[in-house]
Amino acid sequence: MVKKYPNYNIINLDALTYAGDLTKHSDIQHEANYFFEKVDISDRSAVFSVFEKHSINLVTHFAAESHVDRSITDPEIFIKTNVLGTQVLLDAAKQFNVEKFVHVSTDEVYGELEFDPTTFFTENTPLEPNSPYSASKASSDLLVRSYYETFGLPMNITRCSNNYGPYHFPEKLIPLTVSRVLNNQKVPVYGTGENIRDWLHVLDHCSAIDLVMHEGVNGEVYNVGGHNEKTNLEVVETIIKALGKSEDLIEFVEDRLGHDKRYAIDPSKLEKLGWKPTYNFDSGIKQTIDWYLDNQEWWETILSGEYKNYFEKQYSL
Ligand code: TYD
Repeated sequence: MVKKYPNYNIINLDALTYAGDLTKHSDIQHEANYFFEKVDISDRSAVFSVFEKHSINLVTHFAAESHVDRSITDPEIFIKTNVLGTQVLLDAAKQFNVEKFVHVSTDEVYGELEFDPTTFFTENTPLEPNSPYSASKASSDLLVRSYYETFGLPMNITRCSNNYGPYHFPEKLIPLTVSRVLNNQKVPVYGTGENIRDWLHVLDHCSAIDLVMHEGVNGEVYNVGGHNEKTNLEVVETIIKALGKSEDLIEFVEDRLGHDKRYAIDPSKLEKLGWKPTYNFDSGIKQTIDWYLDNQEWWETILSGEYKNYFEKQYSL
């Protein structure tokens, strides 16, 4: 967005929690239209100050605690950031009369699908979240909806499938697998590895958000993703093969509590708006693995820091 829209001032508001770091900004940080504000979205006065200082007129709300396993261990921060933080942003957006509020959500709010490959999540699928994470996101979706219905806040909600790509924090399946396989460490596959996720390259997600921001019909929900369904085992095997390592690295471990069986998106509504993804799973996973090979220092630094203790506690492999 910074490079595509030089006439927009882009204000990046981020609390820089454990999953954030400024090295991700290195190629844009000196651009004249880019500004960074280290702010927690649940800090009302700080958020309102940023809106005032920069005369914000468009909001894309990406900020969330997003790791399901962490929400099972400790749900509280998910409610604080994802629910209360969203309410603060909505209040600021209302107060400053923004022209659009795009709320970035997740297909996990729909709950799970059975393995039947002909069923998909549509925008009309009822919300049936199963984890504290997805329940916090569903709650925020409903708040956004209510600000549209009650106050007329111009908004859209996007619900994406599982993202992957460069700079993905190495607690999520794909970067976790790449980093562990490269270090010849066991890869923990939950349960039997048959759960299915629908993989969306992060840049295709961003192009969808850009489109919805500019063309989305106010009040509408748009699902993002589709037709890149893989079992977790297929994902792990693909990465191991691409890196020329042995499948002996796979370790089946205890299943996640409340583990959703399958997610799969019907993207036809967004396609009608004009969205076309540029990656399929094969091209996207190749590009992502290459990025992790070229940026080993970035993830090695994360793995040797605070995250090391988290991982040892979580998996003890
Ligand atoms: P994850 O990347 O945590 O995303 P989400 O839970 O939001 O879908 O997990 C993707 C899938 O991979 C999910 O079915 C859980 C599974 N998984 C493993 O089998 N092992 C792991 O170590 C992790 C982190 C996830």
